[in-house]
Amino acid sequence: YTLKFNSLCIEKKENCSHIGSFFVGPRKKFMDQLRQKTIVSSWNEWDPLKHVIVGKADGACIPAPEPALDAKVPEDSDMRGQFGPRPKEMVDKANELLDQFASQLEGRGIRVDRPTPMEFNQKTSTPDWQAETMFGCMPPRDVLLTVGKEILEATMSYRCRWFEYLCYRPLLQKYYDEDSEMRHEAAPKPRLTDHDYRQDYLSDKIGVQKRLEWTANKFFVTTEEEVLFDAADVLRFGKDLVVQHGFTTNLKGIDWLARHFPGHRVHTVNFPGDPYPIHIDATFTPIKPGLIMNNPQRRLPEEQREMFDKNGWEIIDSAQPAHNSPPPLCYSSVWLSMNVLVLDTKTVCVEKSEVYQAEQLDKLGMEVVEVDLRDAYAFGGGLHCCTADVYREGTCEDYFPIQ
Ligand code: GLY
Repeated sequence: YTLKFNSLCIEKKENCSHIGSFFVGPRKKFMDQLRQKTIVSSWNEWDPLKHVIVGKADGACIPAPEPALDAKVPEDSDMRGQFGPRPKEMVDKANELLDQFASQLEGRGIRVDRPTPMEFNQKTSTPDWQAETMFGCMPPRDVLLTVGKEILEATMSYRCRWFEYLCYRPLLQKYYDEDSEMRHEAAPKPRLTDHDYRQDYLSDKIGVQKRLEWTANKFFVTTEEEVLFDAADVLRFGKDLVVQHGFTTNLKGIDWLARHFPGHRVHTVNFPGDPYPIHIDATFTPIKPGLIMNNPQRRLPEEQREMFDKNGWEIIDSAQPAHNSPPPLCYSSVWLSMNVLVLDTKTVCVEKSEVYQAEQLDKLGMEVVEVDLRDAYAFGGGLHCCTADVYREGTCEDYFPIQ
């Protein structure tokens, strides 16, 4: 009723002078939102955050088995052998936490948008494959890569996530309409035939030792058949983009990114020690210019540190996670502890139960904002995963002038 009332008022502002005080609050908020001009721009992971997308848990599914997913779900995971909609009480709890996080950000003056969930419990297909279910839209970071004025939809690398970009289209269309300089781009949709996946990984009896050997040798589940990347494998450092080569991003994907962003330097990294290398943001976390936290079980190899060393960047071990195991039905590891969201170079959001991570960041001089999110982890990750930048202040800077 209020919305309808307000939209009438927008069209006929002069007729609104009679409104009673009851409507002034919501109406003012609505009008303020309308007046806010959308600007898409974000060059790094730490400049002051002003506008962000926070995901939703509605209708999220445990996807059915498919080649890329089988390689990724830990061999001892409680999710193996089951698929379909996640339990309603877990969805409701996750949504409660995501809504609360969104309100916390809004309370700090950050504009928050939300995706439009779809019916994820449906079969999807292309001429090349069929998938029993989709995934969800809790982690926008996986799908959307914001580089300056561009928001790029990643190719994705699981069949169940092929159509996930549709949840973000209403927002992207709106940004495109409101910011005449915004660039809305989509990477080439991959075919995701069986040629994209190494058959060696189609077993739940590989064992962690073998997996560690394989991943250290850069023998990942995805082949070099075609361009593949997830947006959450990319970290933005101004003029430099650092991209993890692993299960969800292949070398062709990284080459495509380098060709697509000719004004940037694109660096390939990998992290031996991770038996399931997907997404860089529970492994390597920039906090501010000159400082990165690295997962101590997945250290950046010596030969890949040169660029950071030469330019005076410090790479420190992150604190240990507070938990010995992830929550039930969760794809991610306990290292979501370091999946923090930096609000500016002095302020960082850390999951409330991750007391060691909070303590480390506090000692590093950061103001730590506690966010209760653990019961939403299973839906696609932590605080960095469940957000995607729309606007951070600042410009494109060169943080690594010595190459
Ligand atoms: N790659 C995300 C994790 O460590 O769980």
